[in-house]
Amino acid sequence: MTRRTTERFPATVLASALLLLAVSGVAAAGGRPDPLAERVARGQYIFEAAGCQGCHTDDAHGGQRLGGGRAITSVYGTFYTPNISPDPIYGIGGWSDTAFIRALRHGVSPDGTQLLPVFPFTAYTLMDNQDLLDLRAYLRTQKPVARQSRPHDLQEPLAFRLMMPVWRQLSLTVGPLDTNPLRSAQWNRGQYLVRALGHCAECHSPRTWSGALDESRLFSGNPQGLNGEHAPNITPDAETGLGRWSEADLLLLLELGLRPDGDVVGGAMAEIVRNSTSRLTLADRRAIVTYLRSLTPLRAEPAPQP
Ligand code: HEC
Ligand code: HEC
Repeated sequence: MTRRTTERFPATVLASALLLLAVSGVAAAGGRPDPLAERVARGQYIFEAAGCQGCHTDDAHGGQRLGGGRAITSVYGTFYTPNISPDPIYGIGGWSDTAFIRALRHGVSPDGTQLLPVFPFTAYTLMDNQDLLDLRAYLRTQKPVARQSRPHDLQEPLAFRLMMPVWRQLSLTVGPLDTNPLRSAQWNRGQYLVRALGHCAECHSPRTWSGALDESRLFSGNPQGLNGEHAPNITPDAETGLGRWSEADLLLLLELGLRPDGDVVGGAMAEIVRNSTSRLTLADRRAIVTYLRSLTPLRAEPAPQP
């Protein structure tokens, strides 16, 4: 009797193993996962960490995902984000991987257009090549949107693009980001998430007369940021920054958007939490906190009175 059960057992195991293989789509040859599927999954994580969706989707007007058209207001006028879906005509489906990398690393599109830094390529330039390629692989799997990109509505539409080569000389440090061998792996991961992917400095730093980030005051807040919003000081200054926040306070903010005073963050940050930081692994949120807490404390410029 016992003999019969042991004989039947391997057949059942084999059947369920085959079923598992079929269900999970793992290639039968060697049982290894499909490298492309793995790259696309990695690319999705990069896409979320970098917050591409929020800017390139006009959620407020029912716009299609990655179809662009979202308005970004600034002192220079209104920018409308372009279509970055894989549509070959209206989106970036026709771009080569090299062209895609060039746009994010150097801020130049395939036809030579000088992209404006309202697109935070000044941060994405710090990404490493593999992450850019994985991000590209993920974008290719998204739904094409046949929608023409809307032109910006700026006071001096041409002047900006003409100024860009000079601006680039003065203000762009081309990446990728160097790792700091004197710091831990966790700190370096945090630096990469904050500086390159999360582009946190783009909102949380004051700008110089030319609109470039004020490198000497990074992360000390911007009283008049994107869409006119005040982005607070996120350096560890005790009075005007995050000096009194514990590690747990910061983790809670990045996961749920909750502040230590029980308030929830609003505006642009609510979106960053929803689309980006809440979707990261706990290890990555910890890395961000480690990096933020290591910054030199800086005092914020006073916010404008309402
Ligand atoms: C803060 C908003 C914002 C975020 C975040 C953002 N973009 Fe953009 N992006 C823009 C704007 C605005 C432009 C148009 C710039 C211009 O006209 O020069 C643009 C332009 C582009 C272009 C050039 C398109 C073309 O037709 O020339 C590409 C490609 C692009 N973005 C991809 C991305 C990817 C990938 C991400 C995430 C890693 C991302 N963007 C995140 C606002 C954003
Ligand atoms: C698109 C602009 C934008 C980006 C990008 C951005 N933030 Fe913010 N952040 C804001 C704004 C605006 C607020 C204030 C929200 C409020 O007062 O409700 C804020 C609030 C915060 C706060 C709460 C500070 C306080 O004193 O209440 C922290 C912490 C923070 N951001 C961290 C980050 C980190 C880390 C990143 C990068 C992963 C990041 N932010 C990226 C705009 C941004």
